Amino acid sequence: MKKSSSQNPLKNKIVDFLQGFSTISVTCNQWGDTGKGKFVDLFAEWADIIARGTGGDNCGHSIEADGKKFVFHIIPSGILRDGQGKINIIGNGTVVNPRTVINELALLAEQGCTYSNLMLAYNAKLILPTQIVMDRIKERSAGVGKIGTTGRGIGPTYTDHYSRKGLVINDLLNPEIFRQKFKAHLDEKKMILKNYDYKALKTIMHHKDLESGFYWDDEEIFAEENVVERYLQYGEILRPLIKDTDAFIRNAKERGLKILLEGAQGTLLSIDHGTTPFVTSSDCSVGGLARGAGLKESDVGLSFGIVKGLYMTRVGEGPFPTEFGGDLSAEWCGNGLNNEETERENHSASDINRSEPFSRGIALRILGKEYGATTGRPRRTGWLDLPLLRHALQFGGEEMIFTKLDVLDTCETIQVCTEYEYQGPDYYFGDHLYQAGDHLGIAIPDSNFLKYCAPIYQEFKGWKTSIRGIRSYQSLPDELLEILDFVISQVPGNLNIISVGPGREETIFL
Ligand code: GDP
Ligand code: IMO
Ligand code: MG
Repeated sequence: MKKSSSQNPLKNKIVDFLQGFSTISVTCNQWGDTGKGKFVDLFAEWADIIARGTGGDNCGHSIEADGKKFVFHIIPSGILRDGQGKINIIGNGTVVNPRTVINELALLAEQGCTYSNLMLAYNAKLILPTQIVMDRIKERSAGVGKIGTTGRGIGPTYTDHYSRKGLVINDLLNPEIFRQKFKAHLDEKKMILKNYDYKALKTIMHHKDLESGFYWDDEEIFAEENVVERYLQYGEILRPLIKDTDAFIRNAKERGLKILLEGAQGTLLSIDHGTTPFVTSSDCSVGGLARGAGLKESDVGLSFGIVKGLYMTRVGEGPFPTEFGGDLSAEWCGNGLNNEETERENHSASDINRSEPFSRGIALRILGKEYGATTGRPRRTGWLDLPLLRHALQFGGEEMIFTKLDVLDTCETIQVCTEYEYQGPDYYFGDHLYQAGDHLGIAIPDSNFLKYCAPIYQEFKGWKTSIRGIRSYQSLPDELLEILDFVISQVPGNLNIISVGPGREETIFL
């Protein structure tokens, strides 16, 4: 392989590794939070352009670099390379709360980071306060049917886009058009909101994410003028960033610039391929990401898919066959009463080797710091599920990166779910009838089916030593290598990179 002339060994490795490619993507093959932020930041060293194409500020992408920790919700994770002239783009397929962008710009400035080359797509979908309220009130009224959304207005904003009732970022630059479109949008939403509990609406509207009551009107629910005034102010602040990013990225592609696409959420949360209905409202697979950044899926030459090595997490509701502690864990993580502080105070990481699964799940959460980067909610934890991974791999991300293997350093045994036994009522999947006792190797992402799937495990010995300092594949403990070989032999994907810690250097290229 050709060597780069740079003095930075990690940079050399990345540049060598990605040599010959012009567009690469980083998505997640699970339910999110696998380390997209870490790898987009790393690969940004190679890229000229870093673009997001899906989701909004429901994301929390963490980066640990130069002794600091950053969490980005909407600005791409390549922004720390802005000073090197890299261009970061918030693409057309995203849903954007302008206030979040402005807050993140302020945080960057506070940390001494620049954002001179950041662009925001003129046709990204605009998140309005109405949509945040709709998201929260619907979740509140849904009872057991709730999805456990992040409450950021993501679903209602995409819904309005598809029902042709939404606004886009560009509307912020044209006050009269904004006013007209917002009025029409608001009239419709007020009709719907009048059917909801007034007190609950008032409480929601006084949340800090909704400007602590600034948008509230006792009679009309929304103080229309306050929304217009504030949003037009946001538009003026963001005006220098707003561009035709689709044209820009296509042109850049023709000029041979190197493009890195940053996925959001994970394929199992995709509206099209995820564990429906407990999903987000955009297509988080490689196809959705490419489209949302202004490209085609076939433009992507190398598609990385991140997998939390040997375990997985889920935030929010929905079936999770390998979850430690099953329903008890789901309830514990979703009831709003538990968080990192309370779990650390009352539980111990040494429970990771207890046979009782619920405590084991908490211990894994403590070890992996598995608390939502956006909402702070405890992430539900469970073993790696190969039927779900095989399903996700059908939609890209076949060049796999395994992260967080160090989290399992103290485990005496590791279990990998290799297939399911279906234990529910008769279920037609197209022309195939599933009956209790049937086995399957690829998950069917319908929650009504998945909730009856019992995992079948293969057990392995743990490696019981710290791997954080290891920098070459061959130096990993034999027990771990055996498990990795097994997993790779079981799925239609390749293993490319292993992550043994959150830091940039804690990375092993195979
Ligand atoms: P994202 O949403 O996919 O970007 O992932 P998050 O940032 O929400 O969650 C991943 C968390 O794991 C972050 O806190 C990262 O700093 C951290 N992380 C990433 N890779 C590793 C790793 O290999 N080991 C450990 N211990 N932590 C990691
Ligand atoms: P990153 O990019 C994990 C989950 C929510 C909820 C469901 C729908 O950091 O991996 P939404 O607010 O999108 O309508 O919620 O999707 N969810 C995530 N879970 N990581 C994320 O992002 C997520 N973004 C949304 O918890 O279950
Ligand atoms: Mg995250």
